[in-house]
Amino acid sequence: MSVITIVGLASKTTRDLPVRPFELSDNLLKWLRKNGVTVASSCDGEGVCKKCSIQNDWLSCKLTLKEFLERQQDGKIFVSYL
Ligand code: FES
Repeated sequence: MSVITIVGLASKTTRDLPVRPFELSDNLLKWLRKNGVTVASSCDGEGVCKKCSIQNDWLSCKLTLKEFLERQQDGKIFVSYL
């Protein structure tokens, strides 16, 4: 089982979120929200507002969990406002 770790840069805390195999095709933005992680968005996943970007300016609304974990092999997401 994979793990995505939310690293809050403001609070200096981390939170591990297990990724179940059947979730790998889930949209990252929606999955984060489902797991209680606040992610900004004003276009609701249309890929226009760019407020949902995570490190390296990746749009979380345009990535699956599998794509994210292939790019970021340690599974860490750095969030400046958390
Ligand atoms: S939610 Fe607007 S670009 Fe991703």
